[in-house]
Amino acid sequence: MQAENQPRADAARLERLVARQAEKRHLAAVWAARAGLEAGMTVLDVGAGTGALALEYAALGARVLAMDPDPASLAHAAAEAARRGLILETIVGRAEALPALPTAPDRVMLTDALHHIQDRDAALRAIRAAIAPGGALFIAEYDPAGPGAIGAPMARRMTPAEAQTHLAAAGFSATAAEPGPDEHYTILALP
Ligand SMILES: C[S@@+](CC[C@H](N)C(=O)[O-])C[C@H]1O[C@@H](n2cnc3c(N)ncnc32)[C@H](O)[C@@H]1O
Repeated sequence: MQAENQPRADAARLERLVARQAEKRHLAAVWAARAGLEAGMTVLDVGAGTGALALEYAALGARVLAMDPDPASLAHAAAEAARRGLILETIVGRAEALPALPTAPDRVMLTDALHHIQDRDAALRAIRAAIAPGGALFIAEYDPAGPGAIGAPMARRMTPAEAQTHLAAAGFSATAAEPGPDEHYTILALP
């Protein structure tokens, strides 16, 4: 690709991500309830992307730290927070090498992000070390048992058993996977 076309390609990529992640905004309320997320808690959203869900957690009254390796996605999230009058702290980083946090999170939300992470055990160990006493990790993933009508491609999906194996390897004690919605399962894990 010619260098002069790069900004247009970057803008188109961001637009696609924003649109795709915005379609999942309705899941924030379900996931916040399953995670026991409450106003006043500090929430670390790992792999927050363009912030569609992180902003909903902020709207519920949580202090939200939105972390992602993609600065463009986080810049969009920050701009959207300002537009909506919400406070969102953004941190560029990867779960495997979790950057220093301003405060230990009560909840870590890792939704549709674990299958993107290469060294999952290292990432989960780093997350476990960062969680505040009494805190928890919430995971949502697309289920390979689903029909594949929406969401991550089948080849990239991991079974609940695989996710549980990674959680156990990192020292978490995980609840049974809860099915749904939208081809997902979710797991709440205690450090
Ligand atoms: C499918 S999006 C999920 C966005 C949002 N969490 C959601 O539930 O809609 C996956 C995100 O994980 C991020 N990601 C990829 N590798 C990562 C890593 N190693 N650590 C943290 N986030 C990562 C990507 O940049 C992307 O924004």
